[in-house]
Amino acid sequence: MSHLIVAVDQDGGMSRQGQLPWQHTDAGRKDMAYFKQVTMGHAVLMGWHTYRSMGRLLPGRLNIIVTRNHGHEAPPAVDGSCRVFDDADAAMAFARQWETQTHRRCYVIGGADLFRHCLRAYTFVEKRITVIPGYYSCDTFYPGTLPKEQPLDKPLFFIQRESQPPHDPTWNVVPEQ
Ligand SMILES: NC(=O)c1ccc[n+]([C@@H]2O[C@H](COP(=O)([O-])OP(=O)(O)OC[C@H]3O[C@@H](n4cnc5c(N)ncnc54)[C@H](OP(=O)(O)O)[C@@H]3O)[C@@H](O)[C@H]2O)c1
Repeated sequence: MSHLIVAVDQDGGMSRQGQLPWQHTDAGRKDMAYFKQVTMGHAVLMGWHTYRSMGRLLPGRLNIIVTRNHGHEAPPAVDGSCRVFDDADAAMAFARQWETQTHRRCYVIGGADLFRHCLRAYTFVEKRITVIPGYYSCDTFYPGTLPKEQPLDKPLFFIQRESQPPHDPTWNVVPEQ
């Protein structure tokens, strides 16, 4: 049942020194608005580094965080908006149950370490990849396959659905946001 959403530059880079280097560009702002629109009201599942790099829980969404380190200070959960798991598979099982019970969606949002595990272990109903125009000398890269089409001067929002014919690697462009 799970969904995945990520933004990358034209090298497949996800971040540099813990930050999104395109954050303050027009493309970055557009992607943030898109990310918010897609995930709002749903659940977001992330690795500890991603939570730490955001420095806060994402409001209006159930935040599910995975860390093996029991020494981390628990995020200040408000209204049950956060769950922490020490095992990604337990987190995914919880997320799938939550999706069934609530009829809402859970998006795995990264980072690369968590994607590496989940892309190996799970099939995603839907993957959404934003390709940000440009090359940002990132140090963390998306470990899955990427669309071949490259953006020119604005971000391209791609979607790949499990319901596509088997082995169809097509990424469809989501119409302008
Ligand atoms: N461009 C984008 O769309 C996007 C999206 C998300 C994140 N990011 C960037 O990605 C970077 C973080 O990525 P990352 O690869 O360094 O880290 P990450 O995947 O966010 O977090 C890694 C940590 O999560 C925990 N973890 C991961 N897999 C686990 C598993 N199978 N079971 C239990 N715990 C597990 C571990 O935490 P402990 O070490 O605490 O045990 C691990 O060290 C940040 O810079 C962020 O800005 C970019």
